Amino acid sequence: MGDPKTEAARRRTFAIISHPDAGKTTLTEKFLLYGGALGAEAGTVKARQGRRSATSDWMDLEQQRGISITSTVLQFDHRDCVINLLDTPGHRDFSEDTYRVLAAADAAVMVLDAAKGIEPQTLKLFEVCREREIPFLTFVNKWDRPGKSPLELLDEIEETLVVEPTPVTWPVGIAGDFRGVIHQGTGTYTRFERTARGATIAPEEEVDTATAAEVDTDAFQTATEEAELLTVLGRVVDTKTFLAGESTPVFFGSALTNFGVRFLLDGVVDLVPSPAPRLLANGTRRALDAPFAGLVFKVQAGMDKAHRDRIAFVRVCSGRFERGMIVIAGRTERQFSTKYAQTMFGQDRETVDEAYPGDVIGLVNASDLRVGDAIYRDEPASFPELPAFAPEHFMRARVKDVSKFKQFRKGIVQLDEEGAIQVLRDEDLGDQAPVLAAVGPMQFEVASYRLENEFGAPAELTATRFSIARKTDAESSARLRSMQGVDVLARDDGTQLALFESKYWMDRVIADHPELTLERLVAEGGL
Ligand code: G4P
Repeated sequence: MGDPKTEAARRRTFAIISHPDAGKTTLTEKFLLYGGALGAEAGTVKARQGRRSATSDWMDLEQQRGISITSTVLQFDHRDCVINLLDTPGHRDFSEDTYRVLAAADAAVMVLDAAKGIEPQTLKLFEVCREREIPFLTFVNKWDRPGKSPLELLDEIEETLVVEPTPVTWPVGIAGDFRGVIHQGTGTYTRFERTARGATIAPEEEVDTATAAEVDTDAFQTATEEAELLTVLGRVVDTKTFLAGESTPVFFGSALTNFGVRFLLDGVVDLVPSPAPRLLANGTRRALDAPFAGLVFKVQAGMDKAHRDRIAFVRVCSGRFERGMIVIAGRTERQFSTKYAQTMFGQDRETVDEAYPGDVIGLVNASDLRVGDAIYRDEPASFPELPAFAPEHFMRARVKDVSKFKQFRKGIVQLDEEGAIQVLRDEDLGDQAPVLAAVGPMQFEVASYRLENEFGAPAELTATRFSIARKTDAESSARLRSMQGVDVLARDDGTQLALFESKYWMDRVIADHPELTLERLVAEGGL
């Protein structure tokens, strides 16, 4: 039986963020290959499922759209560490979801396509990281293909993200002619050999300077000069600024051919902080060896079509989790048994018998749990509230076939509890025609798809005139309701949101009525 502090010190829990197609899925698969979780050959998971996406994509809609909406958790070992890799949705429309996943992670890896650099979604997801104040590593992927120069990429990171890039590895050979990498810390040069589409671990060879100068001549010389220049300029990994999110260690590689993947994994082990005592709502921190406490950061239903179950993903924050233990759900103070605790491996599940700080467990059918909840034993815990993102898209939902109203209502409640979409209700219309509020329009697609396919209640979504929301209170809401171009709707938890037709109109209301409560929500103005 492990000791929570010692086990926590071995944990590295991180999430990958990237623009779609930058290579997140491929990289995840290669991590598993290096972590030994896939056996000897990567690609087998892809092949078995006969589709483009890897282990962590499962929903039909995701397959149709070729994007990952949902997220899962993968666990594997590297060196003497246990790595927990949390998958994030790859689309900005789900940035609220990304934020929640990042609440369960201790760091992020940002994947860039060498030819494209920082793309719009990368920027948006990066801003979610910044909002969450979590450190991140950068992996410049697809170095086997023509792309930008490495120095240009560093400039781009610095200028666009206002973060100092500090290379850990430096590529030998331009993008498209990848020979290997120089490790900035040790100065060693590692040459790579191609494997067939990276199916097995890339054979690597440490080469001394004389041999390198002979075999890779100009490419090696250029890389050496650049690497030295960067060191002179002070572009070296600095733990303090990295942890503060002010600098980002950079790795170059090619997930497809496995080049550089091991260095990145080593970087995860060496740089990503192990779980620290978690901040509680009362401002104190829960010691790692305090009794068990966990944070629910995601609730997801319908993961298994055959069962239509609902899973609460919980990050262990303190103590030792043991399957079957009775825990208390903080919000309702109800007890429940964790007999059906599981780990997720994409679509596959396994029961989990024990878990430590940094690990993620899936609790099946713990229907009381909502995102942001704490579960604990012995000593009560509650975590700071996860902020709700500012919705910018509002659609009214009605059931198409009134005989399916019950299913429709159930579906809406479920989507709301999962935080898949925000559900706002009108005092008068109630459940008949709730307004669905989203950070991005693709959330409506998911809601509509799920209402139809999971709950058997096709819905009609119609546009509303609103485009921006602010949090208000009971006192202000009566006044706001009487104004033109404004409406006040309520969330299930009682939060009142004032909806405005335009930012212009909202600003005027604020200017004319400074006494009204109109609080900004996170990421207003679009991430
Ligand atoms: P995502 O999850 O970030 O959306 O990206 P994904 O891994 O699915 O990769 C997107 C495409 O980029 C895939 O090609 C993948 O093979 C390719 N790719 C990923 N990493 C590298 C790399 O290091 N080098 C090169 N050259 N390509 C890379 P695809 O044609 O869309 O799919 P597939 O048919 O190859 O699977």
